[in-house]
Amino acid sequence: MASTRYRDSAFLTGHHRPNRMEVDAPDLFIEGELPADLAGVFYRNGAEPLYPPTDEDYHWFDGDGMVYAFFIEDGRVSLRNRWVRTDKLLLEMKEGRRLFGVHGNPMTTDPLAEGTRYNTANTNIVLHGGKLLALMEGAPPVELDPRTLDTLGEETYGGVVTTTFSAHPTVDHSTGELINIGSIARRGDAAPELRYDIIDFDGRPIATESVPVPHQSMLHTFFVTEHYVVFPVTPLDISLPRAMSGGPLVGWDPDRPTKLGLMPRRGTAADVRWFEAEPRHMMHQANVWESDGRIVADVAAAEGTALFPDIDGTRRTHRETRQSLRRWTIDPTATTDVVREEILNDRDIQFPRPDDRLMTRPSRYAFANSNLHSVDGRADGMDSVVRVDTRTGFEDLYHFGDSAAAGELIFAPKVGGTDELDGYAITLVHQAGAAETELVVFDAKDLTGGPLARVKVPFAIPSGFHCNYYSVDNPLYRQAMG
Ligand SMILES: [Fe+2]
Repeated sequence: MASTRYRDSAFLTGHHRPNRMEVDAPDLFIEGELPADLAGVFYRNGAEPLYPPTDEDYHWFDGDGMVYAFFIEDGRVSLRNRWVRTDKLLLEMKEGRRLFGVHGNPMTTDPLAEGTRYNTANTNIVLHGGKLLALMEGAPPVELDPRTLDTLGEETYGGVVTTTFSAHPTVDHSTGELINIGSIARRGDAAPELRYDIIDFDGRPIATESVPVPHQSMLHTFFVTEHYVVFPVTPLDISLPRAMSGGPLVGWDPDRPTKLGLMPRRGTAADVRWFEAEPRHMMHQANVWESDGRIVADVAAAEGTALFPDIDGTRRTHRETRQSLRRWTIDPTATTDVVREEILNDRDIQFPRPDDRLMTRPSRYAFANSNLHSVDGRADGMDSVVRVDTRTGFEDLYHFGDSAAAGELIFAPKVGGTDELDGYAITLVHQAGAAETELVVFDAKDLTGGPLARVKVPFAIPSGFHCNYYSVDNPLYRQAMG
């Protein structure tokens, strides 16, 4: 008999409690007024396990991908949510119970799952090449219908991507290219590698390259500028031998530096030069670009992480490992391999974002969800949102109240708008214990003044991961929606 109860995990209760349902809500109530020039679709992906996990150490990153799509037009909003029907989830639905161990751990996976890939497709959701792609970093993308969210199957780009993909590929809006990496583990003493891919605007792979990396780390993100790509290899180390001897599979190694591999965008492994920074946990950047020949990366970074244990099993707290907005500068002409770091804003932030149209090119503002008061912003919720002017240091902040959980804050350009702040900022907010969730819309120039509109979702949406907004005049939207 399959379990009918979720275990008492911080990531299965409170703001994270799974819903176990898919809905179509054709016309949501709205408090305030949605601007007429906001028209497009807001997608969000996140982890919602359909079946109670069987392992004791359930992790937030382990649940099944659930995609929410808010279609916004003429001041009205419809909502649809669907699980990504990966082969993993389809097999578990057939059996009516969870089969896979946490993170696909083979030691705790039911033999029935043998031969089926562990793909949760739960981390990001992007439009590219006319397709809606649900992404996780351990498996190929899964294509969904951009309107119905029906699962259409894994996208392998003609057999180029058969193992891993990034949850954070960069779409260069100047060229339409999607730049991607995948982490490749090797058996025995062979050096781990990453696979670097360039996919053109139409979704065709035009370059792929293997690059050896210093050690197997969690390669959650990487940087792309107009001419360069940077591969950050952080101290978040992955080791199967360590796991086999009872240690953590993924662990923070405080004695390792952060290594940053710089390569020309059309370069090869032979062109890579490694730079070095202090040990930093870094999974997300606002934006990265070139300035006076240097690479400038505005990132969310911290000394250590509460998401995973240290390699010796020690657990750090959220408070000890708050991420702040920092600027890393790499000088490709320097004679030393040192990366310069400065703190731009020291608030506790989670997911920094730019105006996506400026990715790879200079930008001025970083949007982020942030935490003023909660003890553990990951479990208890990020209670605020902030926009930082990285030139002046000015911050524009809105606090939703101490019991709020605010998701990633996304810049949504107005239809026809081209300037960096000419539009809106959107996030999902849930108040602890509330039976509803709000899709909150701000004027991007004025968060402090409060929301212009709150779109009422009549149920609690669990905290999730990444969101993207595509305006009706975005070439990626036109390509996908016809
Ligand atoms: Fe991420």
